[in-house]
Amino acid sequence: MNFGGTLRVNKFACFTLAFVLFLIIYWRSGGPGYPTDTSDLVNIKSLLNAAIYAAERGGVKVIEGRNHGAKVHTKGKTKEGANDPVTDADYASHCVMYYTLRNAFPKIAIVSEENLDGDDECQNQDPIDVESPPQGQQIINYLSDEHVLAKDVTVWIDPLDATQEYTEGLYSFVTTMVCVAINGVPIVGVIHYPFPPTTYWGWLMKRTSSNIPKVLYKEDSKNNPKVVVSRSHPGKVAEMAKNAFGTKTTITNSAGAGDKFISIVNGTHDVYLHETAIKKWDLCAGHAILKTNNGTVTTTKGGKIDYTSGSNVVVTDGILATLYDHHYYLGKLKGSV
Ligand SMILES: *[C@@H]1O[C@H](CO)[C@@H](O)[C@H](O)[C@H]1NC(C)=O
Ligand SMILES: *[C@@H]1O[C@H](CO)[C@@H](O)[C@H](O)[C@H]1NC(C)=O
Repeated sequence: MNFGGTLRVNKFACFTLAFVLFLIIYWRSGGPGYPTDTSDLVNIKSLLNAAIYAAERGGVKVIEGRNHGAKVHTKGKTKEGANDPVTDADYASHCVMYYTLRNAFPKIAIVSEENLDGDDECQNQDPIDVESPPQGQQIINYLSDEHVLAKDVTVWIDPLDATQEYTEGLYSFVTTMVCVAINGVPIVGVIHYPFPPTTYWGWLMKRTSSNIPKVLYKEDSKNNPKVVVSRSHPGKVAEMAKNAFGTKTTITNSAGAGDKFISIVNGTHDVYLHETAIKKWDLCAGHAILKTNNGTVTTTKGGKIDYTSGSNVVVTDGILATLYDHHYYLGKLKGSV
């Protein structure tokens, strides 16, 4: 028998156990540089669920607003002289989208196109269960959890994209959008059409909603690209596209940044080109969905777009969005100036 040896092992085991316990307690109590508790972390999967709930709730308000006759106010004119309208539906959608997310995730930064703080009715939104996907999106249950620090998250909300068209009764261009950026990079995008209710989403490196088709690469598209540009802020953009991409370029004027992104994602157009200033809540969700399908979005000068909450909300250099051949189109744009 060897009591001494056994005792030594036990002593060592006790010491190790105590040390491990100490480490755990130290970590839980917030040692330097560590999250103080798990409430400083957010699960991107839960954020995706919440983003879809929020966008779809906003869509309901947008439909109600139409039924009540869209009342138009104006925020003034854009730099290009176009009217910048806002309706009661923009505000109603903002309230439900912003506070659905704010109440579920108190610690993240949220940037919305509209602003209506201090209104109790606006703040009281029915809580959502962020653990269970919205109807029709059960596939999200099969994706893995991804935890990130709340302080690294910025959510961008567009409560009603294509307001001008909304007031004109051109409802098919209207969308509500939510985007989740992590350290300024768009990771999750949700674009919801209220008329009729349809939701598209993408989560970078994971998957897109199953209603997004896989678009095959066509070498020939470069020779006669289909380019979509803004109907309300056309600027000199059509001319710019033809100069850069050649005379066989087809230009389509369309409305709504969200809808234009979807038309790139589904292969209807090859290039979304915008020449003038544009706001980040118009871009972030489409950017995330396009990226999930290996597409690319930059400014027309090739600059990266930073979606951190403290950044300027305006992208001044315009944008170039493509599913394929981004380098080619960017090179042509640069070569033609
Ligand atoms: C692609 O998206 C555009 C814009 O929403 C839409 O007009 C078009 O019908 C869609 N096409 C397909 C094949 O889904
Ligand atoms: C994107 O690229 C990755 C890596 O090349 C590939 O595995 C994936 O299938 C692509 N996704 C799409 C939608 O084309």
